[in-house]
Amino acid sequence: MPRKKLIAANWKMYKTPEQTLAFFRDFLPLVSGHRRDEIVVCPPYTDLAAAVEAAKASNVAVGGQNVHWKDEGAFTGEISASMLLALNVTHVIVGHSERRQYFCETDDTVSLRLKAALEAGLTPICCVGEVLEEREAGLTDDVLRRQCVRAFHSVSAKKAAKLVVAYEPVWAIGTGKTATPELAAEAHAVIRREATEIFGEAFASSLRILYGGSVKPENASALMAEEEIDGALVGGASLDPKSFAGIVKY
Ligand code: PGA
Repeated sequence: MPRKKLIAANWKMYKTPEQTLAFFRDFLPLVSGHRRDEIVVCPPYTDLAAAVEAAKASNVAVGGQNVHWKDEGAFTGEISASMLLALNVTHVIVGHSERRQYFCETDDTVSLRLKAALEAGLTPICCVGEVLEEREAGLTDDVLRRQCVRAFHSVSAKKAAKLVVAYEPVWAIGTGKTATPELAAEAHAVIRREATEIFGEAFASSLRILYGGSVKPENASALMAEEEIDGALVGGASLDPKSFAGIVKY
């Protein structure tokens, strides 16, 4: 069965609710009737309610940018899976490299967040990827394997059904440097082999692995043409409705 591609927007810390509504007003007509790919927009928490309302009855789903592993508690600044579900949010990013780099996110906390998202029935987009020094030192495969093993170790194949992985080489995020389609496909193959080891062949062959890192309308079709690439996680170029629609319709 061919894997349906997923094109996800990661808005990071951009846009107010008003700007969110304006985005959807312009974006939805550009992608209405587009069924080939799944489309998800992940805005900041403060925009989730506006996004869900704006995307209601459309072909666009809404995701959070992180989730805590506890359902509730004294965890200032965090939000839980049940809070996302209460807003009709269906997807969530976990383990983004900016969380790992700037907010002390570790393989262990990524694993806890991933497990909580899956158990709650959310579709997690779990990010992995090497930094430039690791790539230059020839450590890319080791890093990807380590991140996958640590993130997936506490999840069973049965519970992992909704898992989506995003390969995001850190040196390509927001830098305008995209991994070549061939280089991304190689990394995806490493991730798929690791998923085969952990979850088995059947699971791994249906696992969607997205590419992220300076995806733009101009390079999307070459990336999406790779059989190993099952979609994109898009930062900067997802903030503009026309540009994100251009990527969705690569
Ligand atoms: P970028 O970000 O498209 O701006 O490189 C991708 C991401 O961080 O998910």
